[in-house]
Amino acid sequence: MNSLQEPFLQPTLVADYTEQTAQKVPGLADLHSMTQLLLSERAQQAAHILVVGAGGGMEIKAMANAQREWEFTGVDPSAAMLELARRTIGPYNHRATMIEGTIDAAPIALYDGATCLLTLHFLNRNERLQTLQEIRHRLKPGARLVVAHHSMPGADANNWLARSAAFACRSGVDWQNAKASATNMANRLPLLSVAEEEILLSEAGFTEIELFYAAFSFRGWVATAG
Ligand SMILES: C[S@@+](CC[C@H](N)C(=O)[O-])C[C@H]1O[C@@H](n2cnc3c(N)ncnc32)[C@H](O)[C@@H]1O
Repeated sequence: MNSLQEPFLQPTLVADYTEQTAQKVPGLADLHSMTQLLLSERAQQAAHILVVGAGGGMEIKAMANAQREWEFTGVDPSAAMLELARRTIGPYNHRATMIEGTIDAAPIALYDGATCLLTLHFLNRNERLQTLQEIRHRLKPGARLVVAHHSMPGADANNWLARSAAFACRSGVDWQNAKASATNMANRLPLLSVAEEEILLSEAGFTEIELFYAAFSFRGWVATAG
């Protein structure tokens, strides 16, 4: 893990992760519903879904709630985020195996679908490519992958990052803070342009790469294991 991800290792800092994230990511509940729907186009009723960066547990909870027969393997290098995930997932824990580690720790099996939400923007290009390739190796041919995270949408990317930062301030936007936060994100996160994101998915062996979610600086793609 790099220094950007250190906050995820500390139980006190992750305590309000689920509330904070729902406030920061536009349409988060709908992003989870769309993710489940896109995976279900290829995943049979009794499907096994690989969840990479599963900490917090929100996407597993939403998918488990919508799909009664799905089972999940979640991987995340943060013990604190996995502990939070177990609490979030609550009654669905018996359908989720949670593993501390990165994709390399995920058992080699052929999964019916995979997600990697709000995670890839922390990884540099090489780490992302390796993560995507390892996900691809673990998917049945034709299975879907859904990813969503901060990206660099065009030349105006810093403005979009500032809008994302401002979105979290529900009462009274402080644009100066939002712009400072955007600059911080742009300097610290290894963000890729939208075109580079799609090239990387393709390099990792995915086809049918389609954008389905765009919200300020967030972008989400669905892709198929080739
Ligand atoms: C912002 S959280 C997103 C969690 C969850 N997917 C969600 O949408 O709420 C990012 C997560 O990625 C995890 N993470 C960091 N590096 C990772 C890696 N190389 N592979 C998998 N997960 C990673 C962190 O520990 C953290 O739990």
